[in-house]
Amino acid sequence: MKPTDPNKNIPEEFKAFKAEVKVASPGRINLIGEHTDYNQGFVMPAAIDKKIYFQFRKNNYNLARIYSETFDAYTEFKLQEITKSSNSWENYLLGVIDEIQKLNKQLEGFDCIMRSELPIGAGISSSAALECGFAGGLNSLFNLELTPMDIVKLSQRAENNFVGSNCGIMDQFASVMSKKDHFIKLDCETLEPKFIPAKIENCKLLLVNTNVSHNLADSEYNTRRKECEDVVAMIQQKYTEVQSLRQVSFEILEEFRDQIDATSFKRCQYVLEENERVRQTEKALQDANLKSVGQLMYASHRGLQHQYEVSCPELDFLVDFSEDKDFIYGSRMMGGGFGGCTINLIEADKIKAYIEEVEKVYKAKFNITPTAITVVPDAGTQITKV
Ligand code: GLA
Repeated sequence: MKPTDPNKNIPEEFKAFKAEVKVASPGRINLIGEHTDYNQGFVMPAAIDKKIYFQFRKNNYNLARIYSETFDAYTEFKLQEITKSSNSWENYLLGVIDEIQKLNKQLEGFDCIMRSELPIGAGISSSAALECGFAGGLNSLFNLELTPMDIVKLSQRAENNFVGSNCGIMDQFASVMSKKDHFIKLDCETLEPKFIPAKIENCKLLLVNTNVSHNLADSEYNTRRKECEDVVAMIQQKYTEVQSLRQVSFEILEEFRDQIDATSFKRCQYVLEENERVRQTEKALQDANLKSVGQLMYASHRGLQHQYEVSCPELDFLVDFSEDKDFIYGSRMMGGGFGGCTINLIEADKIKAYIEEVEKVYKAKFNITPTAITVVPDAGTQITKV
């Protein structure tokens, strides 16, 4: 069965909704380490204090009945007949149900109400928040005994298989596993997290949303992934132990320079350099050297702009505009690219005036009003049995 028309009437029973499980599922930021996760490298994300909230209860109909307050959209589907929908938001949920059932976990009918604080297409992973919060809620409602790592991985598979985005593991890992007031330095090869205190002193993390989301994002994402994988396959012929760019040193990459096309070469060079920058950022945070963290963020952006080529004029404009402001230590595009937010490390008392200024110049240039929000590194998924 196809999911029913989202405009279908919400069942009367939803009016008096007594939740059995409540979930708060956060979006994420990424301080540094972009497009490195699917190359088995390092990333440094954190969940944030902006979330999707879910309420769950069982029903006796063998149906998943879901209402999004945010979009005023309702859908329902039979648990035995899970197929892809033409409504993209439903595929995140259908994908999660499908992946849970593939693990031979028994779901029964349930009702769910969702409310989101996360803008879509902003690069703060509303998708991972949706998948992981939904999976976590069902896990609790039906005592499925899935571990947090199971939830992370099945949510990533849901996105790969049902939504069709070949994403890495960073977003789901951050949304589920984060600790309040910490960044996670995640080794995407071993999936070992290292929690780094987010000691940013007089600064705050400010996201400036370009409010554009160029539709290149998905296809270019998958192309970048393939460019890196093709280079790995070539290097593997000589160095058989190499499984990903993670095992490729600058020296090995250089050795293959003549055999790799110039574009793929700079993509890989970027990935190796970005991994280095994550390591250096960890050190700089430990030394409370925020100027150095900021310089690494700028260098990351320039790599994404010129070597990895996943930025866009709107993001570059925001980063360029911040660069001569000495109260902004660092600024870079965040997430997959081609739109979404910049993340800025900025002195707290300058934020208000800066937002006014950046709104004016950005609007004058692109005729779009950007949206600015400050965020705080927060805990991963919170689940409460009522
Ligand atoms: C998206 C993906 C992540 C990661 C980033 C780029 O957010 O979902 O897995 O690859 O892009 O760093």
